[in-house]
This record gives sequence, structure tokens and C-alpha cells, in this order.
Amino acid sequence: MSFRIQPQPVARPNRCQLFGPGSNTKLFEKMASSAADVINLDLEDSVAPNDKPQARANVVAAIGAVDWGKKTLSVRINGLDTPYWYRDVVDILEQAGERIDQIMIPKVGCAADIYAVDALVTAIETAKGRQKKIAFEVIIESAAGIAHVEEIAAASPRLQAMSLGAADFAASMGMATTGIGGTQENYYMLHDGAKHWSDPWHWAQAAIVAACRTHGVLPVDGPFGDFSDDDGYRAQALRSATLGMVGKWAIHPKQIALANEVFTPSEKAVTEAREILAAMEEAKASGAGATVYKGRLVDIASIKQAEVIVRQAEMIAG
Ligand code: COA
Ligand code: MG
Repeated sequence: MSFRIQPQPVARPNRCQLFGPGSNTKLFEKMASSAADVINLDLEDSVAPNDKPQARANVVAAIGAVDWGKKTLSVRINGLDTPYWYRDVVDILEQAGERIDQIMIPKVGCAADIYAVDALVTAIETAKGRQKKIAFEVIIESAAGIAHVEEIAAASPRLQAMSLGAADFAASMGMATTGIGGTQENYYMLHDGAKHWSDPWHWAQAAIVAACRTHGVLPVDGPFGDFSDDDGYRAQALRSATLGMVGKWAIHPKQIALANEVFTPSEKAVTEAREILAAMEEAKASGAGATVYKGRLVDIASIKQAEVIVRQAEMIAG
């Protein structure tokens, strides 16, 4: 471990982020009564250019009017390469009530993108006397975003979460696919004539997790486009959870239960983690730094691994 202690991310559940277009007001109540931990009202790519002003007005009204319960409420603004984003920020911060928790900034490419939004948000918060400081979340979905992922993760104390956006990422990287997440037909190794599929999103995910864990930010897996493929969604989510991500987006309500299932530590995993902690307590009491649990080595590092699972389970339960 470095002399510098790894910071803990914010302690709130982020297993599923449910998206809905800001232009589609009839979804808002359904989103609010869903089992998603985070709600993302979208002003960006699910809203057509001509609908932007109306979507903004819808979202401003819904923030105060809808009962969002204990959910984290986030609004995805337009990218900094568009003429829309400043008006998104100004209208939301000037007109919407204090119930909004977070702004999601898409297509970030460098730390200065976050600095720019931070400056605008800070000025409006102060001018309007807003009590609650708005948090940020960002999407890594471009070559520049992944190239600068570490400076982005460190860009602002407001930053709480970072997602991988597979579709825009693939386009920006020039990847030969139109798939949004999941297995890609042509990404395979050949061994003894048999195809073995590999994971083209793995490197970007691992880079995001490393940057996030270094700076105390929640790493999140983005959308899975084929919402009729439950097994495909589950497989992608299980890989993300194994790599250290804490949750995944839902672009359709049927994906919420899948995300909650994968990103809630199972009873079996929690029981095993507690047993490992107990075995290590016993080992320590007898002066040993390592012991055997179910035929395998556990040592001081196993304590930290087990604590990740127990902490996650306790935070979700609480
Ligand atoms: N949140 C809450 N409820 C939703 C929903 C969402 N995102 N999407 C659909 N529903 C509801 C529908 O209103 C419908 O409700 P009903 O049974 O009361 O009529 C039910 O779930 C089934 O919906 P379905 O008919 O299967 O889907 P659809 O054709 O109405 O919508 C999409 C499909 C993809 C257009 C829609 O799910 C959607 O807009 N998703 C979000 C897209 C988005 O925000 N993208 C940006 C991030 S990538
Ligand atoms: Mg995108």
C-alpha cells in the first residue's frame, strides 16, 4: 500500500441506474416507483434536438413534483461539444428544487470539461443560495475520455460516479461493431479450430475501475442495448462486478431486477466472507498471519477482500 490511503467512495447503493428520456413524461412516475437505486432523467441523446427545450422544462418540473423516494436523482445534461449544455445547467440549477442530487456529464474528454461545469454550477449555487451541493457523475465514452481517465477521476470533489458508455466509446474508437456492450461476434481467438470469445470492453472497464478506486469514485457499467437478451445482460454485469464495478445502467425496466441481482452480494458470498473473517480472527489470536479455509489459503489480503463484500452488503441493507 502506498503512503497515500485509498479514499472510500460515497456510501450509497448504485446497483442500477434507470434512464428515461426527459421528453417522455409518462415514464417519470414509473421510474420513481421502480427498484432502481439511481434515476437518470435524460436531456442528451434520447431527446431529439427540437425537443430539448420541452424536455428541460419537463425535467425541471418533475424534480419537484414527483416523489422520488430515497433514490439518487440525476439529470444527464448535453455534452460540452453542443450548444445545449449550458442552458441545461442554468435552467436546472436556477429553476429546479433541491431534490436533485446529481448532474451527469456525458462524453467527458479531459479534466477541464468537469472544471468548466463545476465553475458554472458553483456560481449558480452561490447566486441562488442553494443549500445542497450538486454531485457529478461522468460518462467515459470516447478515446480522449479513456486516455485521460485518471485525471478525469481526480477532477472535482463533486465527482461521485463514472460510467462506461459502450456505444459512443465504440464509435469514437473506430471499433467495427454496432453492438452496445456484450459479446462481439468477431472478437474471438482460435484454438484447435474452435472459437473462444473474448471481451472487447475489458480494458476500458479495468482502466475505469483503477482510476475510480484511486480517487474514491464509484465505477459503473453503462448500457446493454439488447433488452430482450437477459442472459447477455447478466453475463456482462457479472463480468463488470467481478472487475470491481458497483452497478449497471438499465435502459428498460426489465433490466433493473437483473442489475440488482448481480450487484447485491449473494447470501452465500456474504456468509463465506464472514467465515473468512472469523477464520482470520482465530489465526491472528494464535499468532498466525495465514490459515486454511475450505482447503485454500487465506491471509491478511483475504481479510480486505472479504471486507469489500461485507461492507457492500451492509451498505445496501442499511
Ligand atoms: N422507465 C420506466 N418505465 C419504462 C421505461 C423506462 N425507461 N421504458 C419503458 N417503460 C415502461 C413502458 O411505459 C411500459 O409500461 P406499461 O406496461 O405501463 O405500458 C413498460 O415499461 C413496457 O415497455 P415496452 O413497451 O417494452 O417499451 P417501450 O417500447 O415503451 O420503450 C424504449 C422502449 C427503449 C424506447 C424505452 O424503454 C426507453 O425510452 N428507454 C430509455 C432510453 C434512454 O433513456 N436512453 C438513454 C440512455 S442510453
Ligand atoms: Mg452516449
